Amino acid sequence: MTRYQQIANTLRAQITQGQYPVGTRLPGIRQLAMLSGASITTVQSACNLLQDEGLIEARPRAGLYVCPPRQTSLEPVHQAPQPRAPIRLTPTSLTAEVMQQSLNPQYIPLGAAIPEADFLGMDLLNHSRRRRTRQGNEDAKYAVPPGSAELRQAIARNYATRGAPIAAESIIITNGCHEALVLALRCVTQPGDTVAIESPSYYGFLQAMQGLGLNILEIPNHPDTGLSLEALDFALARWTIKAVIVTPNFSNPMGSQMPSDRKAALVARLRALDTVLIEDDIYSELFHQGTRPDTCLQYDEAGDTVILCSSVSKTLAPGLRIGWVISPRFAPQLIEQKLLLNIATASLPQAWVAELLISAKWQQHLSLVRRRHAQAMAKMQQAVMTFFPEGTRISLPRGGFVLWVELAASLDGTALMRHAIEHHISITPGTLFAINGAFRHCIRLNAAVHWSAQVEAAIAFLGHAVRDPIFHRSEDKR
Ligand SMILES: Cc1ncc(COP(=O)(O)O)c(C=O)c1O
Repeated sequence: MTRYQQIANTLRAQITQGQYPVGTRLPGIRQLAMLSGASITTVQSACNLLQDEGLIEARPRAGLYVCPPRQTSLEPVHQAPQPRAPIRLTPTSLTAEVMQQSLNPQYIPLGAAIPEADFLGMDLLNHSRRRRTRQGNEDAKYAVPPGSAELRQAIARNYATRGAPIAAESIIITNGCHEALVLALRCVTQPGDTVAIESPSYYGFLQAMQGLGLNILEIPNHPDTGLSLEALDFALARWTIKAVIVTPNFSNPMGSQMPSDRKAALVARLRALDTVLIEDDIYSELFHQGTRPDTCLQYDEAGDTVILCSSVSKTLAPGLRIGWVISPRFAPQLIEQKLLLNIATASLPQAWVAELLISAKWQQHLSLVRRRHAQAMAKMQQAVMTFFPEGTRISLPRGGFVLWVELAASLDGTALMRHAIEHHISITPGTLFAINGAFRHCIRLNAAVHWSAQVEAAIAFLGHAVRDPIFHRSEDKR
């Protein structure tokens, strides 16, 4: 880091920590140079940087003043009017690159949607593991599909407390939510079939569909109300769609939530056509306010339309690889697919998770992490609004922990990602969330980070970088 960036960081921290409140005058350039022991030119460059960020302004013949936080627009992000025709996706190594970066402890982890330790439950898990180990060797056997009866009962009980009674017989334990999605797709599709997904959508959906040789049909997702039913109707009338994948509660990356009436309408629409709805429920426990949201599965009284997929990856620990798939209608086929694929999910983690899910501590843990997520999201939004240029648009999720940021149309999010990595900051470029680079100018930030001066400096760094013309494609520059 150059000297002027260091000085800018110090001044920025002093401003954001309230040492120089909004509207106050900063010491003059000469005085700042004396205080920092740097040259006048260096201090001037640091102040220019802060002016670019909109943190301070130069008033003619009066000096430098601290600006109020700029109001970044919170309007809905751009919507495509109609779905484009389905296409077969070709492989990309960018996803693997982003996943790899998330493993590097040297980086500020704003890339992958992986909560930092404060938001997970390792202490609780270790406690359950120790209790369980004292109970003998039963847990070491294969937990052949559908998986541990104890865990399936614990999961069923948790859904029942959400007002969604589910028979444990309909639950199959999987290696995370991703495997649950793959099993669901394998059950209801053949290579060459078309599956509709919300757009932008979690890149794991795109990868899974690519691996299974499926055609992808993107349906616009509204940042507030989720999958556009109007656009889905348009698509259902034109193409044969075997299944629809949706994350109705706090979608990744937009954080949108479908209102209850739209969830019910979606299930009714698809039942009428005998099209399966694959519901990704992985974020629904992480609502920021109010009560637990309902699922589409709750509106599937006959149990024949919705296959629900979820896991403990976002609430407890992604490394456990414990997830589940629920479907009264497809349970036998799901069990068969699971056996074919990898015989069973590891039995020991199933036992530890079962032990934890039935304890009162689990609900207390969820209440605690929900509050932490809400606070962390507010901090991340505030920092983006402070440091990013005017015209930046952000999502307003009511749950989960990913923030979607839409920048100037000319921005190249992938070039920005590579630059950020050189400075030990990981982010996810928007291009991964759609086919054909539709969201190249967007980035996704993981808000589930332990807040610190370094995290704030990382957001300030990104906010500064997105102004640099080298990250903008010339044909789109305005
Ligand atoms: C919407 C969504 N579904 C599924 C997954 C994968 O979950 P798991 O780690 O349980 O396989 C993720 C992870 O980021 C996700 O965001």
